[in-house]
Amino acid sequence: MLNIMDKMLFPQPLLARHRRNRKSASVRALVAENSLSPSDFVYPVFVMEGTDSEEPIESMPGISRKTIDRLLQELIELQELGIKAIAPFPVICDSKKEPKAKESYNPLGLMPRCIAQIKAAFPEMIVMTDLALDPFSSDGHDGVVSLSGEILNDETVEILCRMALCHAKAGADFVCPSDMMDGRVGAIRLSLDESGFTSTSIMAYSAKYASAFYGPFRDALNSAPKAGDKKTYQMDPANIIEAVREVRADIAEGADVVMIKPAGPYLDVISKVRAEFNVPVAAYQVSGEYSMIVSAAQNGFIDRSAIILESLMGIKRAGAKMIWTYFAKEAARLLRS
Ligand code: PBG
Repeated sequence: MLNIMDKMLFPQPLLARHRRNRKSASVRALVAENSLSPSDFVYPVFVMEGTDSEEPIESMPGISRKTIDRLLQELIELQELGIKAIAPFPVICDSKKEPKAKESYNPLGLMPRCIAQIKAAFPEMIVMTDLALDPFSSDGHDGVVSLSGEILNDETVEILCRMALCHAKAGADFVCPSDMMDGRVGAIRLSLDESGFTSTSIMAYSAKYASAFYGPFRDALNSAPKAGDKKTYQMDPANIIEAVREVRADIAEGADVVMIKPAGPYLDVISKVRAEFNVPVAAYQVSGEYSMIVSAAQNGFIDRSAIILESLMGIKRAGAKMIWTYFAKEAARLLRS
């Protein structure tokens, strides 16, 4: 009998053959270090005024802006799929936008109505709301813009606190400041607590980068900045030490969950934050990440289903416990089959 060692094929006896742990689907499942589950996903949706209608978003094929009643129909499907959290983003008409974003805390506005109707019909569904001025501001910035074009930190934080209270009163489970102003988490925590909303959670977009991957989202809400960019508040993609500093501050101010955004191009940041802190980490696979995958698949360049799951697994493996993703429903269906 041929003895492979006699052939001196390897310099040493090959005792560790790593491929044994990959030899069949069952073995691979037994040794898998990470897994995806529908309960990992948060589904971002775009809500608009009106009844029984929806409008497709051109730069996000497969995603539409929907009226609240249509959204409620979609929630039945989400619940069946085992998805536990939804994040509604409002499409506000231009006539309601002004520099101070007053519509953002109108108790009769689109957001509080949407939150209340979701919680009334689906009390178990976790509703997470974004806090930032851009959908409501005529300037299209996350904060108040001064006459000289500067984004005013403290004036913005005051508005964010009102917005957080408005969402909490309507029944939001999590408020999620995405504005990157300094000190907003602590200020929001204090205003929520003073009004008795001690159990409303805060998920802070702690390390939110000034990213071109948000382009399709800004089309969806018609919320792009009218002038300038967001680089004086959102982070420089070159930085990671700064992300750690932002996360540390948000945790000290009372954040229950910290988020890294975008996700795919920032896996190192997710991994570092996961290693250094003991709070759940969220990551947002943003609109541009969605649209890149969808358009490459439409061209037949990549395998859509496989890439959706692989992109999400990469984010999970990096250390995110929850993933905001426009693929939530599709991924949940893929995981089931
Ligand atoms: C609002 C906000 C943005 C996104 C989430 N919240 C846009 C921005 O900061 O410009 C982007 C999400 C996505 O691209 O999917 N501040």
